[in-house]
Amino acid sequence: SALVPSGLVDALRKARRVAILTGAGISAESGIPTFRDALTGLWARFNPEELATPEAFQRDPKLVWEWYAHRRELVERVEPNAAHRALVTMEQHVPKLTLITQNVDGLHQRAGSQNVLELHGNLARVRCFHENTVIPSWEDTGEVPPRCPDCGGPLRPDVVWFGENLPADAFEKAVEAAAQCDLFFSIGTSGVVEPAASLTRLARQMGATVALINLDVEPRDVPPLYQIHGKAGTILPELVQRAWPERT
Ligand code: NAD
Ligand code: APR
Repeated sequence: SALVPSGLVDALRKARRVAILTGAGISAESGIPTFRDALTGLWARFNPEELATPEAFQRDPKLVWEWYAHRRELVERVEPNAAHRALVTMEQHVPKLTLITQNVDGLHQRAGSQNVLELHGNLARVRCFHENTVIPSWEDTGEVPPRCPDCGGPLRPDVVWFGENLPADAFEKAVEAAAQCDLFFSIGTSGVVEPAASLTRLARQMGATVALINLDVEPRDVPPLYQIHGKAGTILPELVQRAWPERT
C-alpha cells in the first residue's frame, strides 16, 4: 500500500523551491543511533546534553574528544542510505532545492547532495578551541585532545554544542530557504532543539506546504499538511519514484 499521499506527490512535481530539514532519523538506517534513542554500548551512561557542551569540554576535554572520535569512527564505517540517495534524485529534478541538516555525519554530501547547509557543523572537521580556526591536520603526539599547531591550545570537533550559536551564514540561508519555499520537508527530527526546529514553523507561517516524515507519532505544535509515519528509507524512495517515474 502506498505510504505517500498522492497530493504530496503532485505538490513535489509542481514545486519550484523545496526546503528540507533533516535530523538524526535520516541516518538511523545507516546504522547511526539517533540522539534520543538510548545510546548504545560504551556511551549509554552519558546523554548528548551532558557531553555536547563547552562546559563538558572544559571539565573533561579527553572524554568529550573521545566521544566524538568514537562517533567519527562509526560514521567512517557506515554508508548513506536510500533516504539520503532519494534526496539526491530530488535535488536533480527540483529547480531549487535547499537541504538543511542538523546532522554532523556528512552523509548527505557523501550521497551526492550538492547544496547542503550544516547547521551543527561536521564531525570530520576539527578546530582550535581558542581561535576557532579549522585545523586540517595536526601532529599526533598521543595527547588527547591533540594540541593546536598554531597556539598549542586544545583542538575540538567543529560541531555546534548545546548553548552555542549556530554558524550564522548557514542559519541565515536556512531561514531564507524556509521562508521562500513552496514545499518544506521535515525528515527524521524530533523537532525539540532550537533554532533548527523553528524553520518548520516558519515555512508553515509563510504558506508553504509542509510534509513531516518521522518514525514516531509525535505531537506537533503546528500540524503539518502531510504527516507520514514510517522510515525515511522507505518513504522517500517511494515519493521520488512516483514523482518522476521516467527517471528512477
Ligand atoms: P539553545 O536553545 O541553547 O540555543 C541554540 C543556539 O541557537 C543559542 O546559542 C541561541 O542563541 C541560538 N538561537 C536560538 N534561537 C535562535 C533564533 N531564532 N535565531 C538565531 N539564533 C537562535 O539550544 P541547545 O539545545 O542548547 O543546543 C545548541 C545547539 O547545539 C543546537 O543547535 C543543538 O542542536 C546543537 N547540538 C549539537 C550536538 C551535536 O553533537 N551535533 C549535540 C547537542 C546540541
Ligand atoms: N525514519 C524517519 N524518522 C526516524 C527514523 C527513520 N528511520 N529513525 C528515527 N527517526 C526519528 C525519531 O522518531 C525521532 O523523532 O528521528 C528523530 C530523531 O530525533 P533526535 O534523536 O532528537 O535527533 P535530532 O532531531 O536530529 O536531534 C536534534 O539535537 O542533540 C542535538 O544537535 C543534536 O542535531 C541534534 C539535535
